[in-house]
Amino acid sequence: MVTLRTYRIEDEETVVTLWWDSWHSIRAGLRHPQSLADWRRRWAKDIVSRQQIVVAEADGVVVGFAAADLCNRVLDQIFVAPSHKRCGIGCQLLSWAQRVMPDGFRLHTLAENVASQAFYERNGLAKAGARINPVNGMPTIEYCWVPGPSANRTAPAAGADAVARANKSEHPRRG
Ligand SMILES: CC(C)(COP(=O)(O)OP(=O)(O)OC[C@H]1O[C@@H](n2cnc3c(N)ncnc32)[C@H](O)[C@@H]1OP(=O)(O)O)[C@@H](O)C(=O)NCCC(=O)NCCS
Repeated sequence: MVTLRTYRIEDEETVVTLWWDSWHSIRAGLRHPQSLADWRRRWAKDIVSRQQIVVAEADGVVVGFAAADLCNRVLDQIFVAPSHKRCGIGCQLLSWAQRVMPDGFRLHTLAENVASQAFYERNGLAKAGARINPVNGMPTIEYCWVPGPSANRTAPAAGADAVARANKSEHPRRG
């Protein structure tokens, strides 16, 4: 069974490696312009300190994660380990994003990532635009999720306080 739990600082190495491997599984031969060391720095500086992060675990092993910028209502990252794709984990992570951002959110995905686009469209997200990703310089498509009238609106309030509680107070960073 796959369960979701809040990210802990000790997950860092596992999650960054999963993120790297899953991103490079989008297409054979795809190479990110930054190094894995750059990704580690970006993870700590841009994601852990600013976003709410959840991990998916199967038998105690992390097999996916998602990171949400609650203040800007952006699903910044959603990645499943290559060995566990197409098992419903992405749907679980997307449902989490819908719970923590009940008023809707947007995200960006590579224009060439047809699998993720099929996944988002299957889950009711709609294309909303295009831009160049400022980190990797690659074309991306923006998707939006807008809650329907029957959506559960009782999820916890989103905002900087929620991020602080989830990522810092409950699981203090070392140092
Ligand atoms: C995109 C991603 C998050 C989806 O997660 P997942 O766990 O593999 O997807 P799920 O099993 O929850 O899929 C749910 C549905 O989405 C659609 N879907 C998912 N992957 C698909 C694919 N490769 N091709 C077509 N449809 C797909 C299907 O309708 C699927 O239902 P089905 O398996 O019953 O047909 C995951 O595949 C992944 O991490 N990919 C690599 C990294 C990536 O692209 N991340 C997103 C960056 S924006």
